[in-house]
Amino acid sequence: MRKLITFFVVVAATLAVQSSGSADEAAKADLNRPTSATTVSFKRDVWPIFRRHCRGCHSRTDPKGGLSMDSVADLLKGGDSGPSLSPGKTDSSLLLDMITSDSPEMPKQQPALSAARVEIIRQWILDGAKDDSDPGDLTPKVVIPESYRFAPAITSVSISPDGTRVAAACRSEFVLFPTEGDSRPQRIPTECDLLTHVEFSPDGTKLVTVGGSPSSFGEIRFYEAASGVLINSRRIGHDTLFRGSFSPDGKSVAVGGTDGSAHVVPLDINAPVRSFPLHSDWVFDVDWTPDGKMLVTGGRDKATLVSSVETGKLLRSVDMSTEFVQAVSSNETFAFSSGLARTLTGYEFKIALSGIEVTGAGNGARPITNRAQYVKGMEAQPGPVLTMATSLDRKLLAVGGAYREIRVYKTDDRARVALIPNLPATVYSVSLNRDGTRLAAGGRNGEVQIYEVPSGKLIRSVIPVPVVAPEDVAAK
Ligand code: HEC
Repeated sequence: MRKLITFFVVVAATLAVQSSGSADEAAKADLNRPTSATTVSFKRDVWPIFRRHCRGCHSRTDPKGGLSMDSVADLLKGGDSGPSLSPGKTDSSLLLDMITSDSPEMPKQQPALSAARVEIIRQWILDGAKDDSDPGDLTPKVVIPESYRFAPAITSVSISPDGTRVAAACRSEFVLFPTEGDSRPQRIPTECDLLTHVEFSPDGTKLVTVGGSPSSFGEIRFYEAASGVLINSRRIGHDTLFRGSFSPDGKSVAVGGTDGSAHVVPLDINAPVRSFPLHSDWVFDVDWTPDGKMLVTGGRDKATLVSSVETGKLLRSVDMSTEFVQAVSSNETFAFSSGLARTLTGYEFKIALSGIEVTGAGNGARPITNRAQYVKGMEAQPGPVLTMATSLDRKLLAVGGAYREIRVYKTDDRARVALIPNLPATVYSVSLNRDGTRLAAGGRNGEVQIYEVPSGKLIRSVIPVPVVAPEDVAAK
């Protein structure tokens, strides 16, 4: 229910840089094709190929077929079918078989490896599958500084349903702190390069974090909200996951993916993830209708879609914006969407989903379900909208973005009920508690603000992580 443009442009840029990085390495590896004079290095030549083409499905956290490719030792140990490699023997190495037939089995559902890359792997196995990497140096660990030099942007905030606690995500960690008083935030590290979403479950007992590492993995982690203890985590796909929301029953989280899918991820680690390929581009935000039966999604393809949770199928594409749709929300009557086009629009489910109804009779029969009939325009926003959130009772809708205010609307008659002015920076994320009496906002300058609604009175403003500016260090 929250989003922001610059932030995702930054993410996109990071994605591009990082993926071109690994593409370059792999391309270089192609160029440096081994000749009999040079030996193939696992670390230099083979690992970039595995990391780019295989590791999304074969890491220790998500070893498809039981196989982790995180180290040579893991490869020798193998997966469900036994060792994947026989050093020195190219004709009895399962891994090589799987990448070399006419239509290779691996990488699964992706284009086959180039002949040059297969040759590098073949030569490395022939040379004895030597491991020239230092333990642990293949997967760079996420580094979370003890203190930051500049306050990192708050990419997501969530206020607990009872309004007493806030969770805020910045970079690779998230923090938990009470809305009142000045006790020290509890810092909880993750293994994601970037967290895009954090949220309390509807009953306030659980927390979810969503994020990942560009061209590597998406990750969802569930925590006990009271203690910050990790319940479970799973990796999905090969890229950072975007925002979403808890299902009304608190049993799953639906999030957006760069593959155009909405992923429904159950809290129960033994239940399967369901992926709905709905959009033609990144899905920036996902919300559940209050009955848990439909998903509202929006994304980079500028579409706002309504889909069935039961079937995973699109019910209706309710709108096409002229710009990216950054944020979606809903109550029992309307879906809402907004984004860079600065428009805020409600869509009445009943009419939008009523199928083709006819008016008149006989030859005069015409479909009446056109956009104009279910669209409920709302006031334009002062700038690009990056985030929206409803209160848990779905009666209020808060909207913020690349401008200095937050506007709050009633969801039934769509009238504005509050305006919080003078925000210190672009707002990347807003969150309302159960009855919409408290609002948390976080943004570019790394601060979290907590307000009373509708008065707009500031309760607390905090930079939740330690920041030691370079000049402070110099002064010591
Ligand atoms: C999109 C996911 C995905 C990608 C990417 C992928 N794999 Fe797999 N791999 C699987 C799945 C799932 C299995 C389990 C068997 C199956 O379902 O086909 C598997 C099984 C295997 C196995 C057999 C493991 C065993 O012991 O049974 C090998 C070897 C393997 N993969 C190698 C590779 C290599 C090498 C790459 C990269 C070039 C790769 N895979 C990329 C999903 C993937």
